[in-house]
Amino acid sequence: MTARDVVVHPDATVLAEAVAARLLTRLVDVQSHRRPVHVVLTGGTVGIATLAAVAASPVRHAVDWSGVHLWWGDERFVPDGHPDRNETQARTALIDALGDALPARNVHPMPALSDDVPTPEASATACAAELARWSSHGAHVPAFDVLLLGMGPDGHVASLFPGHEALDVVGATTVGVHGSPKPPPERVSLTFEALHAAREVWVVAAGAEKAGAVAAALSDGDVHDVPAAGALGLERTVWLVDVAAAQEVAAAPPAGQALWSAVDEYFSPLAQEDDALVTVRHNAAQHGLPDIAVTPNQGALLQILARSIGARRVLELGTLGGYSTLWLARALPDDGRLVSLEIDAAHAEVARTSLAAAGVAQLVDVVVGPAAETLDRLAAEGVEPFDLVFVDADKQSLARYLDQVLPLVRPGALVVVDNVVRGGAVIEPQHPDDRVQGVRRFAERLVDLPSVEATVVQTVGSKGYDGFALLRVKD
Ligand SMILES: C[S@@+](CC[C@H](N)C(=O)[O-])C[C@H]1O[C@@H](n2cnc3c(N)ncnc32)[C@H](O)[C@@H]1O
Repeated sequence: MTARDVVVHPDATVLAEAVAARLLTRLVDVQSHRRPVHVVLTGGTVGIATLAAVAASPVRHAVDWSGVHLWWGDERFVPDGHPDRNETQARTALIDALGDALPARNVHPMPALSDDVPTPEASATACAAELARWSSHGAHVPAFDVLLLGMGPDGHVASLFPGHEALDVVGATTVGVHGSPKPPPERVSLTFEALHAAREVWVVAAGAEKAGAVAAALSDGDVHDVPAAGALGLERTVWLVDVAAAQEVAAAPPAGQALWSAVDEYFSPLAQEDDALVTVRHNAAQHGLPDIAVTPNQGALLQILARSIGARRVLELGTLGGYSTLWLARALPDDGRLVSLEIDAAHAEVARTSLAAAGVAQLVDVVVGPAAETLDRLAAEGVEPFDLVFVDADKQSLARYLDQVLPLVRPGALVVVDNVVRGGAVIEPQHPDDRVQGVRRFAERLVDLPSVEATVVQTVGSKGYDGFALLRVKD
């Protein structure tokens, strides 16, 4: 999955204002350390509204426009001054308002249809020469500081349309386009090679009719189907969209998720599941248990921790289908014991059956009941101390479990507490989810505990972004 930032604004009007504010800030910012600044403009309703918002903003006076160069991502191949030209619209919306502040030589429109420029190819060639003239270090285009792109409902950007041969142009920064599915049929466009030279690419899209293309592009669709997926900046790619255009994005995996899953997959040979582990997972799924067991890599971590401290006695809170239980049980010697606490009798039954089939039944006790009650009972019975505890039940009770578990373990014991980051929600004091509040109470309790040393490791993987706390009871 390619890294893209997505910023959602309430509607198209706010979007245009916000992009204008962002653009002005970027210009001022870049001018504090680099000149000249190169910006590629786009047309379209929001693109032109953005330019009008720049013109209306008092912040525009903070920009030294004499050091700003304006380019276009594409142009309709029609005569100079034609109202359809992006250049014409940009002049009306912004460039005319800037007056002498922006020298005419800083404006680089794609040449319009004329006797001297009779074809889109002639315009593209002239435009490529102009781009090369302003580039440095042997590049063919300037390193655009901001390259603005609109996106059509079909996913096109600049004049690079789905399925069109212009998508595959290499070795050129511009291309003459014929047979555009959107009128007029003749256009001039930057190629992907030129787009990819931009430091920052900002794709701007508003409206429900673009929602499908936004979601497809953000989930790395094929550029031949969704050209916008190929709009990527060297340093940063930002999608600036309104709520309507973003409405299908939730269905796409969050940024990073596909990558995290792929990395888990890449390292999976290290934490290889054998048939028994796979069967435990399948049994749980077949019985309708939720898919909330640890991942193979996390299971392997638990096993390594248990082995590395020579654990003989393990306590687990939250059995589910027995998946983490099996990873842990396999770390135990023949006379070891694993006590796993589960509130749901049906879960416990699935786990017992799976663990018996995996050949570890003699090592494991699955105890049905609320963990807090079972822990009290274990304490009252004076059980032999545990060497390792894996806490993976309800998060609301974590602080209480911490107090209950510590008297049941030996000095030097490890306590692993899962899911304490919760996608980062843990840092929000007012978060409405009582599981998050449970983790926060646990973290506060932990800070006050002199008897343990502890750390929290944030994790990403096939089950998203979370993390675990690792505690060691002091000797
Ligand atoms: C995240 S799952 C455990 C996953 C398991 N450790 C694994 O990785 O294979 C949480 C389990 O805790 C159980 N649970 C929830 N509240 C509990 C409670 N108060 N006492 C004991 N178990 C509880 C749930 O029924 C569920 O089966």
